[in-house]
Amino acid sequence: MRDHKIFQSMEKFVQTPYVQDLIERALAYVRAGFPVHFRGPAGTGKTTLAMYLAQQIGRQVVLIHGNDDFSPTDLVGGLQGYKMSKIVDNFIHSVLKTEEQLNLRWQDACITEAVRNGYTLIYDEFTRSKPEANNVLLSILGEKVLEMPIVRKGERYLQVHPHFTAIFTSNPEEYAGVYKTQDALRDRMITIDLNHFDEETEIAITVAKSGMPVEKAERVVRIVRSFREKGKYEFTPTVRASIAIAKVIHLQENLDAGDPFFKQVFIDILTSETCGTVTIGKTNGNAKGSTARVVEQLFDRYYS
Ligand SMILES: Nc1ncnc2c1ncn2[C@@H]1O[C@H](COP(=O)(O)OP(=O)(O)O)[C@@H](O)[C@H]1O
Ligand SMILES: [Mg+2]
Repeated sequence: MRDHKIFQSMEKFVQTPYVQDLIERALAYVRAGFPVHFRGPAGTGKTTLAMYLAQQIGRQVVLIHGNDDFSPTDLVGGLQGYKMSKIVDNFIHSVLKTEEQLNLRWQDACITEAVRNGYTLIYDEFTRSKPEANNVLLSILGEKVLEMPIVRKGERYLQVHPHFTAIFTSNPEEYAGVYKTQDALRDRMITIDLNHFDEETEIAITVAKSGMPVEKAERVVRIVRSFREKGKYEFTPTVRASIAIAKVIHLQENLDAGDPFFKQVFIDILTSETCGTVTIGKTNGNAKGSTARVVEQLFDRYYS
């Protein structure tokens, strides 16, 4: 995707000291010529930060999402326009001749284009791709050359444009469909580890994304954060849960905290994120039911 529309969501980009610190560090590394890698669990702001950083760099942006199906051709390029024609004799009913038209044309893929023109590459969730597909990045980040496949006639090596920048994101908690990053590749980037936002930032993001006033959003976020800290969940509720709860409640005009629906929104959103696969303290049995009870207790504590 090569589109400035991806920056539309940046209008509500929140900058608290927590966020500013990350941006400053990342920009310092980029300016020194190093690729930056934001690593952290879901909902910790990796993709948003990568996009904001790319916007600050100010070059055209190529955004790709890691994918198990990626091959080197998808990233570097390949031959296109392969055609084959057959000459058939109507009396013999068999193929007499197969003609291959070798008018193949090389088509650059996204990484080649970015390397050639000095664009900013955002490679979101890059560990979801197979190491074979990502191998091409080794020489790009290391020796600053892209080795072109032999099938492409002409230049074998493409010098990386001096303005080319690469920003990566990955989630170390993903267990399915993720390949262990090749050490050599990770060695060539500077990794910034992210965790869930601090309270101030989570409140600011919730306000920005839901329109809810700060005083109300504070309470929503505190409940979500207390819930997050209370147990070990397979899917820990992220800032997205805070945003969702605030959005729903904010749309219901004059909804009183005493209204059963108000509490139900917390229960529905927090138990759907945690998906019932939880261990809260020593609670056993009906996981979803016990999760709901934890949410209720927290709700009663904060809204009494
Ligand atoms: N600095 C920020 N300003 C505003 N919203 C943000 C900011 N950082 C993250 N968000 C919002 O928080 C949510 C999670 O962020 P995201 O970048 O998707 O996380 P990740 O890529 O780590 O899963 C999204 O709804 C995103 O819009
Ligand atoms: Mg993301």
